[in-house]
Amino acid sequence: MKIAILGTGTVGTALGERLAQPGHEVSFGSRNPAEHPGAVSQREAVESAEVVVTAIPGAAVLSTLESIGEEALGGRIVLDPSVAITPEMALAYPNDSLARQIQERFPRTRVVKTLNTMNVSVMIDPLTTLPQATVYLSGDDADAKATVTTLLADLGWPSQNVLDLGAIATAVGTEHLAPLFFATYMALQTPAFNIAIIR
Ligand SMILES: NC(=O)c1ccc[n+]([C@@H]2O[C@H](COP(=O)([O-])OP(=O)(O)OC[C@H]3O[C@@H](n4cnc5c(N)ncnc54)[C@H](OP(=O)(O)O)[C@@H]3O)[C@@H](O)[C@H]2O)c1
Repeated sequence: MKIAILGTGTVGTALGERLAQPGHEVSFGSRNPAEHPGAVSQREAVESAEVVVTAIPGAAVLSTLESIGEEALGGRIVLDPSVAITPEMALAYPNDSLARQIQERFPRTRVVKTLNTMNVSVMIDPLTTLPQATVYLSGDDADAKATVTTLLADLGWPSQNVLDLGAIATAVGTEHLAPLFFATYMALQTPAFNIAIIR
């Protein structure tokens, strides 16, 4: 699958390297491609991709997608792992979600919110230490969620660890876990933990 990763930081690099291992064609879209060997412009990365991963600060996602443009984004899957907080660590979209706003602003895209409730170390290697870990999915398009589920499997997430919450409207719940995530991180003094839904 052709995957465009927007952002050449911690998450973008980790997801890109891990997804390239089983043979996905990964391109990195950067604001400054000249400074990142192998990266191209954000628009160029998107234009050749089936899935676009928004591995950039949550508060910058809408403006970044706006600059890439509705036409270039087309009907692509937007896999959004971003944490929608402001630089001051407040929720950027209280009582709403970034993911829902992306879907509303770019109605042809198929937005799937996932991976935003954990540290990057867990995203790409969930089961070594956390076999009961849960990853959430929110999105309106069933085919897009099925595609993202296969990518999650490539990251190491078995289907029984994937919890599809339903429509993109449910992303309000997982995006609002951000303060709980950071408080837990502070309390445990490690990011190597995750939510596990047990019943
Ligand atoms: N780190 C984690 O464990 C973790 C876990 C869950 C979710 N997340 C979320 O995943 C996203 C990426 O996190 P990260 O840790 O990879 O962050 P990061 O290391 O700071 O990297 C973010 C990348 O986004 C691009 N970027 C930075 N500022 C931007 C702006 N104002 N507008 C557009 N692009 C910008 C940069 O790439 P270019 O310079 O190449 O454009 C930068 O390398 C964030 O939303 C974060 O909250 C992170």
